[in-house]
Amino acid sequence: MFDAAPRAETLLEVNNIEVIYNHVILVLKGVSLSVPKGGITALLGGNGAGKTTTLKAISNLLHSERGEVTKGTISYRGERVQELDPASLVRKGVIQVMEGRHCFEHLTIEENLLTGAYTRGDGRAAIARDLEMVYSYFPRLKERRKSQAGYTSGGEQQMCAMGRALMSRPETILLDEPSMGLAPQLVEQIFEIVRAVNEGEGVTFLLAEQNTNVALRYAHYGYILESGRVVMDGPAEALRENPDVKEFYLGMSDQGRKSFRDVRSYRRRKRWLA
Ligand SMILES: Nc1ncnc2c1ncn2[C@@H]1O[C@H](COP(=O)(O)OP(=O)(O)O)[C@@H](O)[C@H]1O
Ligand SMILES: [Mg+2]
Repeated sequence: MFDAAPRAETLLEVNNIEVIYNHVILVLKGVSLSVPKGGITALLGGNGAGKTTTLKAISNLLHSERGEVTKGTISYRGERVQELDPASLVRKGVIQVMEGRHCFEHLTIEENLLTGAYTRGDGRAAIARDLEMVYSYFPRLKERRKSQAGYTSGGEQQMCAMGRALMSRPETILLDEPSMGLAPQLVEQIFEIVRAVNEGEGVTFLLAEQNTNVALRYAHYGYILESGRVVMDGPAEALRENPDVKEFYLGMSDQGRKSFRDVRSYRRRKRWLA
């Protein structure tokens, strides 16, 4: 049948990348993913699965960690971006919000937000407008604008890091573990803001999350990483309904937690035996 819905353009394409730390530690073993324009794509998986490494490979932040992409390609809008430094990538519209929300502790919230506009050359009026745009999504930051970032809460610092990224007027935000260390209610609030920014500003998100449950409620598509490999991907709704995902990531089983791959091979064995 003719499909009238226009297919979203792919912005970011990661093709079969391998990442090695310290010349010997193979961490990503052929990861591929694609991020469509205007979507929220989730990169899921437990601690140590390789989510942060994938995001850092994309924004070329691995060098300081003695990490290197040794195979595969990464492209943005069809253009190879592997050799670009993070600042050039920001100019192309891609910005990363790092895990652990790095704000400048000695600056106020507002000063932090303004540092996010450093790559722009469109003048004070535009920057002032965008500051108001950021405050409209993060009213809490407006209340705390004069506070020194180091003295604000974890949730406010996460908002500050996201708001600062927005100040660069990005097309795509790579958001690493926004829920980390936050109370459930705040996590929900952060994800509501991600959705609002996605819908209101059209910003594309690739977000890494251990909290599969929340991420799959807000994302459109998900990739599940385990030990440096994508073990499953699909529309968020399909992943939420998938029995293996339910059992291992959504906490809907009381059986012991094994590896996701173990379960799948176990199921396969069971099918052969049946
Ligand atoms: N700088 C590094 N040097 C060596 N190994 C690292 C380094 N950073 C991460 N790793 C290893 O790479 C694997 C993936 O880590 P990471 O990408 O941080 O996972 P995630 O973000 O999914 O928790 C882990 O086994 C971790 O120990
Ligand atoms: Mg991580």
